[in-house]
Parts: sequence; structure tokens; C-alpha cells
Amino acid sequence: MPEVEGPIEEGPRQIDDATLDEMLQAARAIMPSAYVPYSGFHVGAALLNEDGTIRAAVNVENASYPLSVCAERNAAAVMVASGHSKILAVAVATNAAHPTPPCGGCRQVLWEFGDADTPVVAEGANGVRARWRLGELLPHAFGPDDLR
Ligand code: THU
Repeated sequence: MPEVEGPIEEGPRQIDDATLDEMLQAARAIMPSAYVPYSGFHVGAALLNEDGTIRAAVNVENASYPLSVCAERNAAAVMVASGHSKILAVAVATNAAHPTPPCGGCRQVLWEFGDADTPVVAEGANGVRARWRLGELLPHAFGPDDLR
């Protein structure tokens, strides 16, 4: 897995463009590993964690379709299995004609480990990118603070 270069500021998130580029590259590089016999829709997701490491994963489908798991959620599982629980940025790569944001369920899972300012970047097949804050994608989120 590539190590991130450059500064990562805490507080209001300033993830530099080179790091976001590296995350999108990691997401795209892992896309061929996606297990997608049903949809044929390859997704690669990469997370920047608090140790400065980028962790990536793919979507894994199942013959029992609802048991399929998105790339973002698998990346979160890889992160947690690696002993980390803070997401500083999210990158999603697909071969769709336009950049696609994480699905609703994944937004909720990302919220567990990120926050409203967490940058989410996406890139489609043509290299066109989109960028959001997680708080835009999941306004009025229910999260860990609501259980306190
Ligand atoms: N998928 C993801 O991996 N991430 C998303 O955010 C959207 C959808 C996967 C699920 C399924 O394997 C395929 O893309 C088509 O929905």
C-alpha cells in the first residue's frame, strides 16, 4: 500500500491534492480485483487513515444479491482490521461515465469513522472528478454522538 506524502492538518481538513490523487490512483489500481459477476460494476475505494496510510478495497458481490458489499464498506473493514478507526478522506473510482458518490448505506458507515468535513472524491472512467464533504452527502446524520 502506498504511504502518503505531505502534510495532513488536523481540524478543518486540508488534504492536499497530491494525496487525493494518490488515493484515487490506489482506488483505481485495486478495481480489477472487484468480485462483480452480477453487476459487472467494478468499484475501488481508498481511505486515508490517521496513520497517514491509504487503505483500499473493492466491492464483493454474492449470489444472494443483498449480501453484496460495497467497496467503501470493505475498505472500512480493512481499516478497522488494521487497527485504525479514523477516516481523513475517501476516494472512489469506477468505470461509470460520471463520478459516482458512495451509496446511502456506505455514507452511514463512513460517518461512523469520519465527520462532516471529511472530503469524498470520486472519479469516473473519463477521469472527470467530483468532490463533496461527507456532511453534504449525509446531512443530519445519526452517529456515535447520538448514543451518548
Ligand atoms: N457499489 C459500491 O461498491 N459502492 C457504491 O458506493 C455504490 C455501489 C457496488 C455495489 C454493487 O456491487 C455494484 O456497485 C453495483 O451496485
